[in-house]
Amino acid sequence: MPILDVHNLSKIYEGKVSIHALSHIRFAVEKGEFVGIMGPSGSGKTTLLNVIATIDEPTSGEVMINGRDPKSLGRKEKALFRRKELGFVFQHFNLLDTLTVEENIVLPLTLAGASVKEMEARLAEVAERLDIRPLLHKRTYEISGGQMQRVAIARAMIHKPALILADEPTGSLDSKAAGEVMNLLAGVNEAEGATVLMVTHDAVAASFCHRVIFIKDGRFHSEMYRGSSRAAFFQNIIDMLSLLGGAGHELPAVRL
Ligand SMILES: Nc1ncnc2c1ncn2[C@@H]1O[C@H](COP(=O)(O)OP(=O)(O)OP(=O)(O)O)[C@@H](O)[C@H]1O
Ligand SMILES: [Mg+2]
Repeated sequence: MPILDVHNLSKIYEGKVSIHALSHIRFAVEKGEFVGIMGPSGSGKTTLLNVIATIDEPTSGEVMINGRDPKSLGRKEKALFRRKELGFVFQHFNLLDTLTVEENIVLPLTLAGASVKEMEARLAEVAERLDIRPLLHKRTYEISGGQMQRVAIARAMIHKPALILADEPTGSLDSKAAGEVMNLLAGVNEAEGATVLMVTHDAVAASFCHRVIFIKDGRFHSEMYRGSSRAAFFQNIIDMLSLLGGAGHELPAVRL
């Protein structure tokens, strides 16, 4: 059974002019896979992630996460489901600056009511994996962007969610920090078997994925597997992006 099964998903934003943000999208993500989503600005990537994240509701179609359809859950149950089964990484980190790094990271476990012993053990594990042990007692405004994103990844994975969702995780980082963050995210995927779905404009970041799904105008366009060479995969991604007309350097017009 796949961890994520997106079935015939459509999303229409009703308005003066209704917008078909997603049309009949279908794909599945297996446990332990690291999948990228790419496509031109406005192609529906963030909408797709928001629907999968249960933040937004589909107009039709289904999303199954770990064998369950969050749409069937009530408000409260859905919030619990999201907290337990999902981990989030955002472009702008979304750390709480009133908390220390350590407090930010353990937040999902605090909310889940884990014991202090359990929290400490798991914290040590993820801090080691993401190379942020010396930062644990700092405040979030005392650390760099790349460090903040590593902290955000630690927070996204500490409760071993079924699926980690990342929207432009390297979007606010310079290329060196972006490379470090992607190496660590790929490491988390490999070492913990964490399943990751990542939206990105960045062909370098995408080249760390096992597979990249391309969408255009809200529709599935194509998908590509990495194979053994990341360099060759990177070149194939660049070629596909230019074919799609959403050049890698193009900045998105709207950020939601
Ligand atoms: N809340 C909303 N209400 C109405 N239309 C929306 C809403 N959110 C997104 N859209 C529209 O849906 C389409 C898809 O938007 P979406 O944000 O998913 O694209 P994207 O691929 O994430 O783009 P970008 O690369 O710029 O982030 C766009 O035409 C957008 O204008
Ligand atoms: Mg977007």
